[in-house]
Amino acid sequence: MTLETLAQRAQRRRFLKPFAGQTAWPPPMWLMRQAGRYLPEYRETRATAGSFLNLCYAPELAAEVTLQPIRRYGFDASILFSDILVVPDALGQEVRFVEGEGPRLDPIEDAGGVSRLKPEATGEKFSIVAETVSRLRRDLPDETALIGFCGAPWTVATYMVGGRGSPDQAAARLMAYRDPETFQRLIDILVETSVDYLSRQVEAGADALQIFDSWAGSLADNQFARWVVAPTRVMIARLKEKYPEIPILGFPRGADQLSALFAAETGVDGISCNTAMPLRAMVELAEGTGRVVQGNLDPLLLVAGGKQLDDRVDEILTAMKGKKFIFNLGHGILQFTPPENVTRLVERVRSSE
Ligand code: CP3
Repeated sequence: MTLETLAQRAQRRRFLKPFAGQTAWPPPMWLMRQAGRYLPEYRETRATAGSFLNLCYAPELAAEVTLQPIRRYGFDASILFSDILVVPDALGQEVRFVEGEGPRLDPIEDAGGVSRLKPEATGEKFSIVAETVSRLRRDLPDETALIGFCGAPWTVATYMVGGRGSPDQAAARLMAYRDPETFQRLIDILVETSVDYLSRQVEAGADALQIFDSWAGSLADNQFARWVVAPTRVMIARLKEKYPEIPILGFPRGADQLSALFAAETGVDGISCNTAMPLRAMVELAEGTGRVVQGNLDPLLLVAGGKQLDDRVDEILTAMKGKKFIFNLGHGILQFTPPENVTRLVERVRSSE
């Protein structure tokens, strides 16, 4: 396929400017989980879809909820509405979302569980998601970038092995210690499958990609190197070979002091920082690695609103002025965020000089 160059797309889509080495101030902005339950229009569409995964697998509805925050706030980027757990679901490890409790999967306990996965069967569900991407590229304003995404192999594996979210990811960390060969096979399957999944999103019209590694912060440094850095590096090398003009953001949440290593060794074009990352460290990351830095407003501050919100937004903008920077939250937007606080945030960032 032929793609426009990054520099050409960046002319029309501000979000891409920092990746193309072009200056952009006020900085481009979008918010992780910008489509979701804090918006009444999302709740309405969600109710017609039945289950959450039905929504992810209904291109017309998934495209609609992706567009909702763009219509309301005019963010510089939209993010495909889907979920990182679509990948295990497509591999045949069925995912259920229990209302108020989160995702549930039948946990993979051993080598047998890994060999029951069906990478050859993922095409059907991935094509549905690609259909959402095509619709979006057709329906989005031309100036809005479209971000495709997947979970990083490590984070997705924590759900596949644990069967649910957990505060310490103990089940996956234990399998990685006790039976590293089996765990490596699982990670390898996720690398292959995720590269295929992201490739389909690019072919369907995604402008940029983000790899969510929400649980990168729970690993010892040697395990971080093996299960976070190594698989991400392979994924990025494979994607860059096919699509050199597609910027890739990594979000190694909680990686803290390992963030610079992550940025240098994986080959990401940008790094998304969580709330606890000090602004000074974000500046150093931008200057030291030359990568785009994204982040990192506390999602709770967006619930609180008011002067506290304004002051922190100003602090972030002052610190990141002149850097290759994208304004975002440090983690996903929370369900009880008043939509008017998001309006206030957008106005504040957009009026930054
Ligand atoms: O707007 C966007 O950012 C795009 C859509 C998106 C969702 N999930 C929709 C969603 C994205 C990028 C994700 C990523 C995701 N999903 C991550 C990585 C980022 C992070 O938050 O750390 C993870 C770990 C998941 C797995 C997941 N999905 C969990 C643990 C849950 C349950 C928690 C919850 O908020 O209910 C989900 C469900 C989910 N994914 C919802 C949305 C809008 C809420 C479900 C609903 O509407 O009922």
